[in-house]
Amino acid sequence: MNPIPDNLVSEDMALALTITTLIVGSVIILLIVKLRRQRQEYQTLFESVPCTITVQDKDFRIVGYNREFADMFNPTVGDYCYQVYKGRNKKCEVCPVERTFQDGKTHTSEETRENQNGTRKHWIVKTAPVTNAQGEIVAAIEMCLDVTARKMLEDELERSEKKYYAIFDNIPNPVLVLDPETYEVLDGNKSIESVYGYTKEAVLGKSFLDFFTAEERKHFEFKLKNSEPINQVKQIGRSGKTLYVNIRVSPSEYWGQKVLLVTVSDITKRLEAEQQLSQASKLATLGEMATGVAHELNQPLTVIKMASGFLTKKIQQNEPIPPEILTNMAEKINNNVERANKIINHMRDFARKSDLTLEKIGVNGVLERAYDIFSQQLKLRKIEVIWNLDENLPSIMGDAGRLEQVFINLLVNARDAIEKRWEEEEAAAPDKRIFITTAKRNDQVSVEVCDTGTGISKGVRAKIFEPFFTTKEVGKGTGLGLSISYGIVKDFRGQIRVTSHPEGGACFQLEFPIPQPSENKDVTNGR
Ligand SMILES: Nc1ncnc2c1ncn2[C@@H]1O[C@H](COP(=O)(O)OP(=O)(O)OP(=O)(O)O)[C@@H](O)[C@H]1O
Ligand SMILES: [Mg+2]
Repeated sequence: MNPIPDNLVSEDMALALTITTLIVGSVIILLIVKLRRQRQEYQTLFESVPCTITVQDKDFRIVGYNREFADMFNPTVGDYCYQVYKGRNKKCEVCPVERTFQDGKTHTSEETRENQNGTRKHWIVKTAPVTNAQGEIVAAIEMCLDVTARKMLEDELERSEKKYYAIFDNIPNPVLVLDPETYEVLDGNKSIESVYGYTKEAVLGKSFLDFFTAEERKHFEFKLKNSEPINQVKQIGRSGKTLYVNIRVSPSEYWGQKVLLVTVSDITKRLEAEQQLSQASKLATLGEMATGVAHELNQPLTVIKMASGFLTKKIQQNEPIPPEILTNMAEKINNNVERANKIINHMRDFARKSDLTLEKIGVNGVLERAYDIFSQQLKLRKIEVIWNLDENLPSIMGDAGRLEQVFINLLVNARDAIEKRWEEEEAAAPDKRIFITTAKRNDQVSVEVCDTGTGISKGVRAKIFEPFFTTKEVGKGTGLGLSISYGIVKDFRGQIRVTSHPEGGACFQLEFPIPQPSENKDVTNGR
């Protein structure tokens, strides 16, 4: 290169040239500094991101990596990726780096590595192409985020969900998850099928109210809404099968949604067995009362016989019968037929199998009906009944026929205890009396049947509610009366206790809960 002759270069030009050279030099230096800084920043970023980064060539050899990767795998440049990550000696079947080399795009995958100690590591992998100035892919960058902890949590969650489902499905009682507004079944367990006959899948999406009888749906909808327990209710299963269940409802959360959790216990078999036993005991009571009832029936029959005899005689003798006497006779016959009818109907009602559903009943009325059927027995033995009934007694939830059975059992026992005491003590025994008292105490209806009989010793008292426990002679008592009564009272959510009466003798105290205003079914029996 030729130098410029000195005479051609003025001093000004030389100065300008020097300044230009200095400016260009400074700009270049500044650019270099900036580039260095940027490079350093990228390097720092590359080194300190909390994931491993490698740069790989098309043979999957590692040509660069960050500190995280170095700390984790201790690699050497040139190692194969699959060797370092997974201890393999050939490439993985599905490889995102390979796909990036093929199509020049980014790819994501999830990778798992089995450690030597049997544990597993999981990563989320993302790859991206590195291109040269001509746009050719010269390398692939692979970033891996360790998600082992999250994966373990997910696995744990899946395991606990499976466990929960196994428990949920194997609970012997049907459990249903309901929408709290529509009562639609959102989920349920396998036991639904064994009780209702429908598979869980068949029930999903249906309303739980459909299991109730049409006329009771409104009533039970109210109870479900208020999460009130529902006891001994009739429901309809597949093919119209009738079943009796207890239902417990609790508001809950299910997958973040507000729901009603409903647990159902099928009590049909228990109730049927109890009903059979109770029926047998009832028929035994009826048998025992046959003499009294015969006597009771004899009275109206005698009146009818007398009236008809009188009329026949008058007609045979051709004697005129004054109209007022004729009317009187006709009325007597009519009244006594009605009376006999009443006794027969009552006996038939009592012998009838009781219904298993509970409804509102008046206790005073049931007590009086029990006394009606039994009064002859007491009159014959000169046992006086002292009544003390609360005329404003609220109704209770029960079944009139079964409650009557309880009262008759108590009256029979009182009669036997009084008779026994009289046999033992004769003149020294107190008056033969039975006290029947009803009252409202707090939110309970209380009934007391007390007597002046033998009383019950402490030892015997502990056993009297057990089935087949009796102190009566063979052939006289089966020992079922009180155990059946206990079962019936419990079914009505009541209590039965025995204490000593101040005048001697035994005192049975019964208590029944007064139903909530929502339980607004009609009073069907009693007063
Ligand atoms: N009022 C009472 N006074 C004294 N003892 C009683 C009284 N009530 C029950 N008991 C005692 O309790 C026992 C059990 O009574 P429960 O009614 O269960 O059977 P039972 O009367 O012996 O036989 P069933 O009632 O089957 O004919 C009686 O045998 C008697 O010993
Ligand atoms: Mg008895």
